[in-house]
Amino acid sequence: MNSNLPQAASGETSSAQQEIVLVAERLTKHYPVSRGWFRSGLVKALNGVSFSLARGRTLAVVGESGCGKSTLARQLTMIEAPTSGSLFIDGRDVAHDTHAAAKALRRQVQMVFQNPYASLNPRKTVEQALGEPLVINTDLDSRARAERIADMMRTVGLRPEQTRRYPHMFSGGQRQRVAIARAMILEPRIVVADEPVSALDVSIQAQILNLFMDLQDQFGTSYVFISHNLSVVEHVAHDVMVMYLGAVVELGAKGTLFERPLHPYTRSLMSATPSLDASKRQIQIKLQGELPSPLNLPSGCTFHQRCPYAAEICRHEVPQLRQVSERLVACHRVEEIDG
Ligand SMILES: Nc1ncnc2c1ncn2[C@@H]1O[C@H](COP(=O)(O)OP(=O)(O)OP(=O)(O)O)[C@@H](O)[C@H]1O
Ligand SMILES: [Mg+2]
Repeated sequence: MNSNLPQAASGETSSAQQEIVLVAERLTKHYPVSRGWFRSGLVKALNGVSFSLARGRTLAVVGESGCGKSTLARQLTMIEAPTSGSLFIDGRDVAHDTHAAAKALRRQVQMVFQNPYASLNPRKTVEQALGEPLVINTDLDSRARAERIADMMRTVGLRPEQTRRYPHMFSGGQRQRVAIARAMILEPRIVVADEPVSALDVSIQAQILNLFMDLQDQFGTSYVFISHNLSVVEHVAHDVMVMYLGAVVELGAKGTLFERPLHPYTRSLMSATPSLDASKRQIQIKLQGELPSPLNLPSGCTFHQRCPYAAEICRHEVPQLRQVSERLVACHRVEEIDG
């Protein structure tokens, strides 16, 4: 494992003291697609994403629709196998471990989706939904399972007697609590949450975000928290990773990025969020044009066609992610435009 990797955990404590639970190394996912008769293409959804995540920390992943956030989530949760790149959980290479070890690692990473209906079977009661992972992965007897389920119900703010209900008998917020309980029941090291509050009423969103944070305090869980909503990110994140067309353009501590975003793309995202404190947004950059197709990625810096600062080098040379002012940023001209 390469220890020179970008540290997502770049906050107040030094990374030496932090226990790294997840490392992604150049994760890449290309989907072959057919484009009519005899023509095929590759959707380059994820293009070499590297980061690490420490215990009890939250890495928020932000970026426009189609930038590869959910694709990343599917690689991290091992729902899909990456085209290339590696994933380490607790220092173990997921792809090259034995079958049994890989299965054990898999239960350390659980997922919460935007729509709890996607993860909850409508025909199963909450008791069945929460009991199933325990039956498969533990040797608890039925009484111990019932106790564990009742505890988890209380932990997520539901009543134990509600376990006999079906998912449709809950409100949206309660249903997401059930989905979170299911993700947490095996006490995983890592939870990947893909837009977990986007479908909820604004008044409910804060409650669910606070639940995520309480659970993190209680269990030391690490989160990869995907959200297009920067106000939500500001609330929950320790570190922020900004993605553009399947690649990381900026990565660092939340405070650093929100106080002084450096990549023109990060700046434009922040300019587009009026709810953020205006003083934090310095220079306004309006995002121009459409997101290019991942079927046909632009040359050089993939952002150059939309970047107001693009120069000749940006059209030809891919910018590497490098350390600038306490964060990592992939931009040729960052020093010049930061003035
Ligand atoms: N199975 C697939 N086959 C082909 N293309 C795919 C597949 N899954 C995703 N893509 C493409 O990969 C790109 C990234 O998709 P992804 O769902 O990861 O984006 P996202 O950042 O999660 O977007 P959103 O914010 O809308 O959820 C998109 O262009 C999408 O169309
Ligand atoms: Mg998505």
